[in-house]
Amino acid sequence: MGLVGWPLAHSVSPRLFRDAFRRAGLPWRYERFPVQPNGLARLVASLRAQDVRGFNVTIPHKQAVRAFLDTESPAARAVGAVNCVRIRNGKLWGTNTDLAAFVADLRAHRMAASVRGKRVVLLGAGGAARACAFGLLSLRPSELVIANRDLRRARNLAADVRRAALSPRRRVRVSAVALRSASPKIRRAALLVNATSVGLRAGDRLPISDAFLRAPLAVYDLLYNPPVTDLLRRARLHGCLAVGGIGMLTRQAAAAFRLWTGRKPSPGAFDPVNLGHHMITKRR
Ligand SMILES: NC(=O)c1ccc[n+]([C@@H]2O[C@H](COP(=O)([O-])OP(=O)(O)OC[C@H]3O[C@@H](n4cnc5c(N)ncnc54)[C@H](OP(=O)(O)O)[C@@H]3O)[C@@H](O)[C@H]2O)c1
Repeated sequence: MGLVGWPLAHSVSPRLFRDAFRRAGLPWRYERFPVQPNGLARLVASLRAQDVRGFNVTIPHKQAVRAFLDTESPAARAVGAVNCVRIRNGKLWGTNTDLAAFVADLRAHRMAASVRGKRVVLLGAGGAARACAFGLLSLRPSELVIANRDLRRARNLAADVRRAALSPRRRVRVSAVALRSASPKIRRAALLVNATSVGLRAGDRLPISDAFLRAPLAVYDLLYNPPVTDLLRRARLHGCLAVGGIGMLTRQAAAAFRLWTGRKPSPGAFDPVNLGHHMITKRR
């Protein structure tokens, strides 16, 4: 098993899975497979040929990896992104465990109920943002604003979400804006979600003005390393409930464990508390 992405230095997944396999008494390994986009096809072909049960997929390959799969789950098809692949008899099956993990973590932090009938601003339009957008749809906001550096990508995601939201039960206004113009949209929002990779590198800063980070806005940052990102720090300073992505990470990882092993994780496995300061020391 392993993690396919670039960069991978920040990832705590190897540590999580090694701990979970040890607790379950499984002699399995979990490796980092760092690969840039031009090497993805070759890497996937080599994993298919080896005795590998599956792998996780992270930045920037969650959409591109779909081209190499034999089949995928309805969740992966709906979201248009795959973060977990199972290999059986040389056949690759992809699914998306980010969506359910994101919604479950919002619920666990009591951030989900406040979304209903309200505006949500989602930063990002990559693989993770796609899962968040469809997850948010299930919480019935009145409006979803998707903000991305590449506006064309935000528009594409908005169009996909609009198509999914066509049923009267799910009527929601969906719009796309450039990331640099997102701040005023946050004013009347109940929830701001950061699903960009801004914050991964020290000194990264989202172009979001502090003037709009005010309670009762809640902020969820998918980044989990560092545990307190610049966005979370600023939001907390202004009284917002602000939560990082470690709970989402551990929930999607536990789902991958169940898919690969057919077992429930042992008690204590995938517990964020066990990660401790590792998250800080692993920064680039
Ligand atoms: N907690 C969890 O369980 C969890 C799960 C999944 C992902 N994540 C995190 O979520 C983040 C996004 O992952 P992903 O798979 O969606 O990656 P991705 O598909 O590569 O998308 C990256 C996103 O970040 C934006 N971005 C990158 N650099 C930027 C910059 N300098 N300024 C502004 N925007 C920038 C991209 O905008 P453009 O389209 O304009 O390039 C795009 O929206 C990663 O940090 C990942 O670690 C966390």
